Amino acid sequence: MNGSAASAGERAGSVAVITGGGRGFGKSFGEALAAQGAHAVLIDRDGPEAEAAAAGIRDAGGAATGYAGDVADEARMAAIMAEVAAAHGGIDLLINNAGLHSDEYSQPIATMGVPKVRRLFEVNVIGTVIATLAARPFMAGRRNASIVNISSSAAHMGGTAYGTSKLAVAGLTITFARELAPDGIRVNAISPGLILTDTIRSELPEATKVRVKAMQYMDAFGEEADIVEAMLFLSSPRARFITGETLRVTGGMAAGI
Ligand SMILES: NC(=O)c1ccc[n+]([C@@H]2O[C@H](COP(=O)([O-])OP(=O)(O)OC[C@H]3O[C@@H](n4cnc5c(N)ncnc54)[C@H](O)[C@@H]3O)[C@@H](O)[C@H]2O)c1
Repeated sequence: MNGSAASAGERAGSVAVITGGGRGFGKSFGEALAAQGAHAVLIDRDGPEAEAAAAGIRDAGGAATGYAGDVADEARMAAIMAEVAAAHGGIDLLINNAGLHSDEYSQPIATMGVPKVRRLFEVNVIGTVIATLAARPFMAGRRNASIVNISSSAAHMGGTAYGTSKLAVAGLTITFARELAPDGIRVNAISPGLILTDTIRSELPEATKVRVKAMQYMDAFGEEADIVEAMLFLSSPRARFITGETLRVTGGMAAGI
């Protein structure tokens, strides 16, 4: 499990909901939060993967539940959030992590066609809206309530449909920071650069990895732990005066004003 011994128990009694929690960042977020004492709720369109990830956390001594759910399905997301709140008393942290991001979503829009572009925006953008609105009533007024959205370094370049969907996620982060502040909910985002998750390792062509690394200031690939650390900070009381921000974790890619 991730998370240092020094911080074990820091989140005891809290409830963290993570979309796309079956693998990649989402799974690592769940493990790190559970290691700090949170109950991790992993939602994934791949139900068996979500359940397997939750079982892994329980085997390691943590608390976790897996749910099958598509973030673009408004009724399903509302039902899951209500069930989680009824079982555990509320929701303290929501991580809008589920996202479509394979190479096919970075092709020219004319090649992708409207149905694929629509699905991309439905998951990455509308899915973020749906999960946020579904969780909000159960987060309002909780001590240290916060939302962490997962944008992308591609957002700051704007050259692809995928990047444009993630630019909308950065925009939503500001919009929801304003709208949810009266409920005491902070809303921030992380823009990861190229991070070697299992999916990236197996699906992204080697030449693309080398090309992206050449765009960074730092001559290294990012790891899941780098994104986990950023999430742990933004969702902790140490970030109590930070809302509406997007933190770039890219090794210096897409640096600029
Ligand atoms: N890995 C990177 O380098 C990188 C860089 C920048 C941004 N991101 C973003 O980080 C997030 C997670 O990336 P990852 O690399 O861990 O991805 P991943 O593909 O390894 O895992 C994503 C998970 O989300 C689930 N998912 C996909 N669509 C869903 C939906 N509609 N409803 C519910 N679950 C759904 C998948 O089943 C999968 O388990 C994504 O939003 C991605 O765009 C990743």
